[in-house]
Amino acid sequence: MNTKGIILAGGSGSRLYPTTAVFSKQLQPIYDKPLIYYPLATLMLAGIREILIISTPQDTPNFERLLGDGSQWGVHIEYKVQAAPKGIAEAFIYGREFIGNDQVCLILGDNVFYGKLDFLREAIQTNEGGTIFGYRVQDPERYGVVEFGEGGQVVSIEEKPQNPKSNYAIPGLYIFTSDVTDIAPDVRPSQRGEVEITEVHSAYLRQNRLKVQLMGRGIAWLDTGTPESMLEASTFIHAIEKRQGTKIACLEEIALQMKFINRETFLKTVHALPKSSYREYCLMIADEMQEDW
Ligand code: DAU
Repeated sequence: MNTKGIILAGGSGSRLYPTTAVFSKQLQPIYDKPLIYYPLATLMLAGIREILIISTPQDTPNFERLLGDGSQWGVHIEYKVQAAPKGIAEAFIYGREFIGNDQVCLILGDNVFYGKLDFLREAIQTNEGGTIFGYRVQDPERYGVVEFGEGGQVVSIEEKPQNPKSNYAIPGLYIFTSDVTDIAPDVRPSQRGEVEITEVHSAYLRQNRLKVQLMGRGIAWLDTGTPESMLEASTFIHAIEKRQGTKIACLEEIALQMKFINRETFLKTVHALPKSSYREYCLMIADEMQEDW
């Protein structure tokens, strides 16, 4: 089944004011590249090549300037404007035409994952309704939370509960069959006036079509919700990149590795980059590749 990707990259960014007064959170750096590079890398590594980016009226042109149509990475990127940040479930309303009859993987533009993504590729292959993930955190009240019954079955899903029924938060990475575009418009706004993504999960749960898969400890799901967590995420990326001499979420490298582009397109793209450590890294990859392949 073909799977498309949506990156939801709008929102008011109010929690990061004044950093977000002029341009959005997902364009801010996490160490050495804009935040949106990380979720885009996740989708590409999952093998997804058709991607819709949804953002605000002010920021959508900035994303277009940054990422273009994706052809430099062998993917196809489209854009759609969300008129106002009325909730994550709106991604499936704005994305209806784009999704068509395909399965869709939605990733929030501020969610960073690091680690082996086999679990995601497998989830995409096996999804039959909705697949979401559970990730153990210390502060579940800040997220959507899964409640498990004694047999491990999913009992409920709650958005930012005051008294969380487990420590398992739901990361902003979801897979749904195409009928999500019929389910999302039925979601009523919550008390805070948003159409909550957890209501979409609950709808699939009521239909017995929701799978919650635990994300292992080998995966780092990094928070970028506050200035402090953005700094911590930057430090994490920096530490790994420095130690290994590699880059995380280098889109040119991923495109080549996934065989979305050939060596010729890779070199053409890289030679067009401004002189930077990012370009140096890509040139190093090109050299190494010549030795290996
Ligand atoms: O990060 C995972 C969590 O993301 C989940 O556990 C929660 O269930 C889910 O509701 C969400 O919670 P947040 O409090 O992090 O949602 P936030 O309002 O910060 O929005 C997340 C991202 O989506 C953010 O980058 C902005 C974007 N967004 C959000 C809304 C409500 C939009 O682009 N449009 C919107 O209407």
